[in-house]
Amino acid sequence: MTVKNEDLLSPFRFANGVEIKNRIVMAPMTNFSSNPDGTVTDAEVSYYARRSKGVSMVITACTYVTANGKGFHGEFGGDRDEFIPSLQRVASAIKEQGAKAILQIFHGGRMCPPELVPNGVIVSASDIPAERGGNSTEEPDIKPRPLSEMEVEEMIKAFGETTRRAIAAGFDGVEIHGANGYLIQQFFSPHSNRREDRFGGSLENRMTFPLEVVDEVKRVVSEHADGSFLVGYRFSPEEPETPGITMSDTLTLVDSLAGKGLDYLHVSLMDFFSTPHRGVQDLSKSRIEYLLETIKNRVPLIGVGSIYTAEDARKAFATGVPLLALARELIIDPDWVQKIAENRENEIVTKINKVNKEKQKELVIPDPLWNAIIHSPGWFPGV
Ligand SMILES: Cc1cc2nc3c(=O)[nH]c(=O)nc-3n(C[C@H](O)[C@H](O)[C@H](O)COP(=O)(O)O)c2cc1C
Repeated sequence: MTVKNEDLLSPFRFANGVEIKNRIVMAPMTNFSSNPDGTVTDAEVSYYARRSKGVSMVITACTYVTANGKGFHGEFGGDRDEFIPSLQRVASAIKEQGAKAILQIFHGGRMCPPELVPNGVIVSASDIPAERGGNSTEEPDIKPRPLSEMEVEEMIKAFGETTRRAIAAGFDGVEIHGANGYLIQQFFSPHSNRREDRFGGSLENRMTFPLEVVDEVKRVVSEHADGSFLVGYRFSPEEPETPGITMSDTLTLVDSLAGKGLDYLHVSLMDFFSTPHRGVQDLSKSRIEYLLETIKNRVPLIGVGSIYTAEDARKAFATGVPLLALARELIIDPDWVQKIAENRENEIVTKINKVNKEKQKELVIPDPLWNAIIHSPGWFPGV
């Protein structure tokens, strides 16, 4: 399939009739810049506004659905009604620039830094600490406390409650964060979920929590919003641990999710063209190809991962994904879409200038996010 820039810029219509102006969305990115009390700051509102003109849809940084789900310093809260005005500021800043605003809803589970959660008690499906990447791995001896069955049911309700707040705050949709090793994924993973009740054990039981979160969010949407409110679901296809999620586990989950009446699915990948590590026959076929084959056009898939240039994007769309998300590239060049629309794709900037403080101001990047970028070698391509 040959893809032209006009195709990237063509409108897309969701099954519920909502139309978005083009195929490029901003991927969810935590910016570490909210106030310690969980309200948003002026700096992050400006950061969103700066990036919401070209893309059709902005998925926000994740927000925690309960106090013990706060996964990052400077993460904004969505666990109480008093945060609705704060959430409203983000939704308005995005919508005023012409993009749809989607709130990513989340619980960090065993990845939460203990100092951010009440009494330092981190919770998960079972008492298995994270092996990698978790904020709690800095103190690896801290075992998460397994949630009781009743607490799991309350947690499912909490995702619904944050959805109700998103609706009240004027968001156009929510994205359920089932990726990147956080609580929803912890229930799906045989590494972190060793439960023996209806939420654990078989692959089917491990899907119970994710699927019940979807049902509850959709129930709340049907009760509190009109038919235009979007619900998406993000997942990570594989885990490196043994036991851990395999590509075949994910295809089973995705097959179920595709029958749930969601508005979109969103894979989480660092490389759009990456191939599976295990669980499927042909390890040379890309994860995206496997996902598209399983989904069979039942629900749109958003692809993502190291797309920097227009050529990268055209190549990605040639696989058949209808929508593409950009994360780091929209921090590096907030005018990415506009440059393509104005036939200036050769002016797209693909490396961040980490030494020039003026660039930070020009790009409207809040201090905590800027500091994370410049102190994490290899994370962002830079000069
Ligand atoms: C600064 C930063 C923060 C991120 N925060 C989140 C997040 O809150 N939720 C999420 O699902 N993914 C998060 N991600 C992952 C991105 O959404 C994306 O999947 C990843 O960066 C790969 O896309 P890219 O190559 O376009 O950057 C974050 C990535 C970055 C760079």
